[in-house]
Amino acid sequence: MTEPEIHKGLAGVVVDYTAVSKVNSDTNSLLYRGYPVQELAGHRDMEDVAYLLWNGELPSAEQRTEFDAFERGHRALPKEVIAAIDLLPLTAHPMDVARTAVSVMGASHPLAADNSVEANMEKAATLFAAFPAVVAYDQRRRRDQAIVEPRDDLGYSANFLWMTFGEEAPPEVVHAFDVSMVLYAEHSFNASTFTARVITSTLADLHSAVTGAIGALKGALHGGANEAVMHTFEEIGIRKDESHEDAAARAKTWMEEALASKKKVMGFGHRVYKNGDSRVPTMKSALDAMIEYYGRDEILGLYSGLETAMSEAKDIKPNLDYPAGPVYHLMGFDTEMFTPLFIAARITGWTAHIMEQAASNSLIRPLSLYNGPDERHVD
Ligand code: ACO
Repeated sequence: MTEPEIHKGLAGVVVDYTAVSKVNSDTNSLLYRGYPVQELAGHRDMEDVAYLLWNGELPSAEQRTEFDAFERGHRALPKEVIAAIDLLPLTAHPMDVARTAVSVMGASHPLAADNSVEANMEKAATLFAAFPAVVAYDQRRRRDQAIVEPRDDLGYSANFLWMTFGEEAPPEVVHAFDVSMVLYAEHSFNASTFTARVITSTLADLHSAVTGAIGALKGALHGGANEAVMHTFEEIGIRKDESHEDAAARAKTWMEEALASKKKVMGFGHRVYKNGDSRVPTMKSALDAMIEYYGRDEILGLYSGLETAMSEAKDIKPNLDYPAGPVYHLMGFDTEMFTPLFIAARITGWTAHIMEQAASNSLIRPLSLYNGPDERHVD
C-alpha cells in the first residue's frame, strides 16, 4: 500500500471554491468579488467594501444609505461588553481583550444561536459596526482616558479615529487609515479565515467562528506580524530628527546581523506571494503620505534600510504588515493595538467566508497518518 502524501501546513492544497476573493501570485493581484483591491482602495471606502464582500456587488446609492443607517446606528458598545472589558487587567494583551469582547458580543446577541442567512448578515454587520469601539475603548483605558462615544455624522474610518483619539482626524489621515482597512479586509483561505470556516463547518454560530479566527490571527506568523514589525523598529531605535540615510544604515546593519543569526524577520515573506505582496505598493503609498504629513523621514529610512538588506541577502519581499505597522504608529496607536486594527477590517472577510461556508457546507475534517507507538496493551 502506498503511503498517502502529507502536505505540512496544507501548503499547495486546494480545499474548496470561494467567490469572495481571488489571490493570484503569478500576476501579483488580489480581487475582491472581481474588483482589484487597488481600485477599491483608491475609489471606494471601507463601508462599500464591507457591503461588496457580503453581498457580491457594490451598493447602489440607495443601498448605501440604508447600510450607513444600520452601521452608524450600531457603533456603540453594549454595556455588557464595556463591563467585560473593564474586568480585564491592563496587562492583558489587546488581542485577548478583543477576543473576549467578541465572545461577549456573541453571548449577548439576541440572534446568537440563529444561523440563518438573515441572522448571519445582521450579526456580521453589527459586529463590523461595533468592533471599532472595542479597539478605541481599549486604547483609551490604557492611557487612563474616558470612553468617547461614536458620532453618526462621520464615516467608518473617521469615526474609528475619533473614538480612539477624541479629536477629528485630518482627511489625509482618515484616507490612509481607510486604505489600510480596505487592504486588510480579505485574503482568501489564510489561517484565520480557514479557522473561521472550520468552526462554521461544525454548524457553530458566527461569533464562535470569529472568536476562533481572532485566536489564529494573533500569532506572529499571521496578523501578529504588524505588531512585531514595530517592535523591530523599536529595537533598532526610532530617533526623531535622525536623517533618512543614518536611519537606513542602522537598519541595514540590524538586518544583516539578524539574518546572520538565522532570525525570522516579521513583515517579510508570504506563503502565497513569492514575488511580492499585491497589497504592499498601495499601503506603501499610504505610508509615504503619512511620513510626509507627520514629517518623519527617519521612519522611512528604517523601512528602506531593512527592505534593501532583506532583498539583497535573501530576495524576500515585504508583506502588507510591513508598511501597515509604521502607518499605525505614526497615527498614534500603541504598538499592541495594531493586530486588533487588522481584526476590525478582517471581520468583513471572515464573515463573508462564514456565510459562504454555511451556504454550501461540508464538515471540514482532514485525515492524519499515525506515527505513534505500535498497538500495545495495559498489563
Ligand atoms: N525572515 C527571514 N527568513 C524568511 C522569512 C522572514 N520573514 N520568511 C521566509 N524566510 C525564509 C525561511 O527561513 C526559509 O528559508 P530556508 O529555506 O533557508 O529555511 C524560506 O524563506 C521559506 O520560508 P518558509 O517559512 O518555509 O515559507 P512559508 O511559505 O511557510 O512562510 C511565512 C510564509 C510564514 C509568512 C514566512 O515568510 C514568515 O514567517 N514571515 C514572517 C511572518 C510574517 O510577516 N507574517 C505575515 C504574513 S502576511 C499577513 O498576515 C498579512
